[in-house]
Amino acid sequence: MTQAPSIDAVQQMLGEQGYVCGRALATVVFLSLRLGRPLFLEGEAGVGKTEIAKAIAAALGRRLIRLQCYEGLDAASAVYDWNFAAQMVAIRTAEAAGGADRGALQTELFSDEFLIERPLLQAMRPDPAGAPVLLIDELDRTDEPFEAFLLEALSDFQVTIPELGTVKAPEPPIVILTSNRTREVHDALKRRCLYHWVDYPDFDREIEILHARAPEAAETLSRQVVAFVQTLRTEDLFKKPGVAETIDWAKCLLALDVIDLSPEVIADTLGAILKYQDDIQKLQGSEAKRILDQAKASLEPA
Ligand SMILES: Nc1ncnc2c1ncn2[C@@H]1O[C@H](COP(=O)(O)OP(=O)(O)OP(=O)(O)O)[C@@H](O)[C@H]1O
Ligand SMILES: [Mg+2]
Repeated sequence: MTQAPSIDAVQQMLGEQGYVCGRALATVVFLSLRLGRPLFLEGEAGVGKTEIAKAIAAALGRRLIRLQCYEGLDAASAVYDWNFAAQMVAIRTAEAAGGADRGALQTELFSDEFLIERPLLQAMRPDPAGAPVLLIDELDRTDEPFEAFLLEALSDFQVTIPELGTVKAPEPPIVILTSNRTREVHDALKRRCLYHWVDYPDFDREIEILHARAPEAAETLSRQVVAFVQTLRTEDLFKKPGVAETIDWAKCLLALDVIDLSPEVIADTLGAILKYQDDIQKLQGSEAKRILDQAKASLEPA
């Protein structure tokens, strides 16, 4: 991969896209590009798994093709389908024109004209800009039969359409798979990929992310926001806030012209960082103040 000659170069090119990437993540991205292996990213919600695929595509100037997984996803939605409505119209038109040649009609009905290309097939088509980035997002939401099917598609990057023949990618796409680990993905699929667990960033990295994503926020407020969120993540919560929440919250506080965090402001804006009523309730009363005091203390020089 000429565009990413080193791990440092990966870090830099993702940084230019506003994506703050630690050394470990940059290393697997580099290796995945260099070896042409799919990259499997697992982690909590809102830690930048989906975003990295977007950043890689933008940095390399490649097309991003996204396959959003969900329960019941099947080949017809993931690979290709036939445009039945258009086929019906073609049949009626041929009938109205009077006794079309059945064989010719059959061939015409199952030609490219009536083929609907879904993400996996799109990703195998040649692209003048280079192989696209294929993001298979939230794989844990699909079921096992689809995973087995995917395993096959990823091993040879080709798809067979019975009526048309086999489509093979001239250059394999750059594949990124993500999972929130609501269930374990099968070992066979994992074995094909390079794996990385995307964790919550530490304080310095989260500040860096905030600088990249909410540059308007003043330094004092940014540091307070990150310290508070970092402290909050050590609490026993049903759903801990991700980086996305940190950014959202900072933007909310900016919109309210807040320059210094107070328990009152936190109580009023908690909905930006916590999305479950049980968690919000835990921070009622003196709790928000206790966590804020702890966060502010962590900011003081030792
Ligand atoms: N390292 C990072 N650098 C820059 N921005 C980041 C980073 N990590 C997260 N973000 C920001 O957080 C937002 C959420 O990230 P993203 O959607 O990629 O999370 P996710 O891990 O895919 O979450 P989910 O599991 O909920 O889909 C992004 O829009 C991005 O702005
Ligand atoms: Mg995501």
